[in-house]
Amino acid sequence: MKLFAANWKENPKSEKEALKLFRDTGKVKRNNKMEVAICPPAIYLEEISRVCKKVKTKEGLSLGAQDVFWEDKGAFTSEVGPKMLRALGVKYVIVGHSERRKWMHETDAMINKKIKLALADGITVILCVGEPLSIRKKGIGAAKKFVAGQLAKDLKAIKSGNKLVVAYEPIWAIGTGRYDKPEDVRAMATFIKKLLNGKHHQKARFLYGGSVNSKNIADYVQYKEIDGALVGGASLKVDECKKIITILSKI
Ligand code: PGA
Repeated sequence: MKLFAANWKENPKSEKEALKLFRDTGKVKRNNKMEVAICPPAIYLEEISRVCKKVKTKEGLSLGAQDVFWEDKGAFTSEVGPKMLRALGVKYVIVGHSERRKWMHETDAMINKKIKLALADGITVILCVGEPLSIRKKGIGAAKKFVAGQLAKDLKAIKSGNKLVVAYEPIWAIGTGRYDKPEDVRAMATFIKKLLNGKHHQKARFLYGGSVNSKNIADYVQYKEIDGALVGGASLKVDECKKIITILSKI
């Protein structure tokens, strides 16, 4: 089952546009062998969740959040906990995106706490990992080592069962139009799945993210090791979403 996870980031500017984008993406015809998970900004989740419950094609259409806090309630100004997300029907949460690691100085220890509580509250985690260009320049081996280090810290003392999705997003490929070679991504997928297997994440899925669009997605998802994509920029364009969903539905 392939997964198309749409990371809208801080877009669009209004709820009206967000609802339109959600409806237009949600109604694209797809088969039951794929799932579309839309991750809008938190402020739109409630209204989108209301619309989502009403749409006829709800099956295979899920809601995701872009972040979550590591406590369910308390004196934590501005934070949103997993129980609050669950109450809105949120199934997935993105944790550890490189933009949060960079701009919000999120550490692996913070990410670890977020994952623990999200899983305990029944939300499937999309954990983002990926190396900077300086590491990748040293080769795919160095990238694997970097990613293994992130996974070890982010997943320390965690059992995820079937509720973990690892999104490999090389930082240099995010929003840049430069995407990773499909065969390198496949090697990374094999490496990560092998690493997690035998630990506590046997059923972890693997997504690729980084300048994915309708023209290159097929090159990634052709491999059985790659379970789908986490898509930023292209997920804001309905035409692109249509093409991506059509491609994934044919696999
Ligand atoms: P992009 O973003 O598709 O715009 O490169 C992907 C992501 O950051 O999740």
